[in-house]
This record gives sequence, structure tokens and C-alpha cells, in this order.
Amino acid sequence: MRTLINIFILLLTLTSCQSQTKKANTNKTVGGPCEGCEAIFEYGNQKLTSIDTLPDFDQNKPKLRLTGTVFEKDGKTPAKNVILYIYHTDRNGIYPKKGGEKGWARRHGYIRGWIKTDKTGQYTFHTFRPAAYPNGTIPEHIHVTVKEPSKNEYYIDVFAFDDDPILTSKERHKLKNRGGSGIVKPALNDGILTAKRDIVLGLNIPNYE
Ligand SMILES: [Fe+2]
Repeated sequence: MRTLINIFILLLTLTSCQSQTKKANTNKTVGGPCEGCEAIFEYGNQKLTSIDTLPDFDQNKPKLRLTGTVFEKDGKTPAKNVILYIYHTDRNGIYPKKGGEKGWARRHGYIRGWIKTDKTGQYTFHTFRPAAYPNGTIPEHIHVTVKEPSKNEYYIDVFAFDDDPILTSKERHKLKNRGGSGIVKPALNDGILTAKRDIVLGLNIPNYE
């Protein structure tokens, strides 16, 4: 019996060591573990430019323009050839699918888009304002992932909306300011809500050198 218990303890120790090793390896990754960040590579044959229009832009209101400059870690130098991937819910607060989705579209839905910055570091997405999840406890948000030429992909703070009543001070405190604050203040510009956010690569990103 004693031998059996010893074998059991040995197995338990080995298993926990293995999981610790796995965790340590994952943590070496820039930005830490990220489920679904690899969706940034799912743009297929699309030739990426610094401007993209997301699906269903025409059918939805309020229309939204997300724009700004991506900077290197110094916060001053425009960062070129950086891919940004965003996805968000529809006006019902769900990640809509059409059926037959492949890859991460099965989770993220089809309201998604990609840009690649040019030498000015600027980006623009044309889309519409997402709704909060139907349970109404999580603020409206747009997920965003970054891929720099020489680093692995990592996520930054979601875009959130300063005038969203669900974005309480408690929710604001949960944000980590990865890449800088993602809280935008949309303002009407030519009939379209325009939200500006500059992104600083590596800011508050673990293991970033
Ligand atoms: Fe979400």
C-alpha cells in the first residue's frame, strides 16, 4: 500500500512539474499566452493596406471610424508594417456567423478586419459600433491583436467607449493599458462616429524588449 502511495505521489509531482515547464515556456512569449491571437494570420489572399472596411458596414448604424497612429516603444517613431486585427460583436451583441466558418471565425464571427501600417504608422478601420453582450454586464468592446514584423502576435487593450454606461469605474480599473489606453471618445465627423486611438507597441506588454 505504501509503495502505491509513493508511486501516486511521484506521478503527481511529475505531472505538476510538466505543467510548470509548459507555463514557463508560454510566458517567454511576448505578451504572454493569448488564445486566438493567431487569427491575425487569417486574412487569406487579402492585400493589406492601412485602411480596411469591415463586413456589414453599409447595413449598420452608428457607423464608426477607428483611426490613429501606431508608434514604436519610444512613443514617437511611427511603426511601419505592423498588422492589426480587430473583431467585434454585431448590433445584437453577438459574434455573428454565416455558417461554414473556418479557423477562428468560428469564435470571432465574421465582423473582423485587418490592416497593415505604412511608413506613417497610421491605420483606419471603417465599421459600426458594436453592442454589449446580451447579458449587459460587459462594456461594448472591439478586440485587437498586433503583429510586428519581428515579434510574435499579442493582444492589446480592447477598444472601449468612454460614453458607454456599462464602462463603470470598476470596469475601467480592470483595464491594463496594454499598448496604451483603448478607451475612445467617439465624435461625429462627416456623419460618422470617429474615434482616435494611438497605439504604443510594447507598452505594458509582458516580456517585451
Ligand atoms: Fe469579446
